[in-house]
Amino acid sequence: MQIIKQRNQLTPLSTQLRAQGAKIGFVPTMGALHQGHISLVEASKKRANITIVSIFVNPTQFNDPKDLEKYPRPIEQDIAMLEAAGCDILYLPEASDIYGPVTQVTDKFDLAGLDLELEGASRPGHFAGVAQVVKILLEITRPDILFLGQKDFQQCLILTQLINSLKMPVELVMCPIYRESHGLAMSSRNVRLNPQIRQKAGAIYASLQYAAAMVNILTPQEIQQAATAALNTIEGFNVDYFLLLNADNLKPITPETPTNRIVIITAVLVDGVRLLDNMVIS
Ligand code: PAF
Repeated sequence: MQIIKQRNQLTPLSTQLRAQGAKIGFVPTMGALHQGHISLVEASKKRANITIVSIFVNPTQFNDPKDLEKYPRPIEQDIAMLEAAGCDILYLPEASDIYGPVTQVTDKFDLAGLDLELEGASRPGHFAGVAQVVKILLEITRPDILFLGQKDFQQCLILTQLINSLKMPVELVMCPIYRESHGLAMSSRNVRLNPQIRQKAGAIYASLQYAAAMVNILTPQEIQQAATAALNTIEGFNVDYFLLLNADNLKPITPETPTNRIVIITAVLVDGVRLLDNMVIS
């Protein structure tokens, strides 16, 4: 695996590989890699000839400086995992290689209001930071296919909107959520949970399964209330949202606006750690 720290080396290499006919897959990450990330690398290796992974803990998408500081950075372990998974190129930049001298969001994006709800409501500016860094990463890596995990479903919709609005020549592939054996969606934040509560956090997936089973029996509001109440009874759990929404635009489902694709989407603070999960049903 080649480790590249500078865009002025990576962009010409990617351009040259594409000119030679290689299809390039790209997996952007913030490191602290787990099996979920590796499943994205595997998906890329199936579809592309060259897989580029980036590791960059992007400051502009953190609205809590403590969260940024606490974000795990096990770089040696990450490199070993990527080597084992057969990643071809690791882009490992400093902030200045991404942003220049000042690390900030400079572009105004049309995110169709998708950035204001759910995670956006709790973390103002978060998605502007994500959109900015992904736009820059795509400009630097020039991939044919971008692989993202469904765990961050809202992020996937927002980046689809970004790519479409900027007419960027890249296909976005959303890969299925990778789960721990008891159902908890894999996340770099899971290591912050103690083992007992990490085990209990499997209840989040169980609540999605319950909601999916009830979808033709109860109203969305009834399901939301029941699931929220059940999760909140678990010690250390505090539901931020548990919602059934239109999976195409994250709008509420009402009798006037029914939909065939529903996303059951939730954020739960578990011992203060924000855990996201979702399930799409047709
Ligand atoms: O999902 C993530 O890890 C990040 O939001 C991303 C897409 C790498 C941008 O920093």
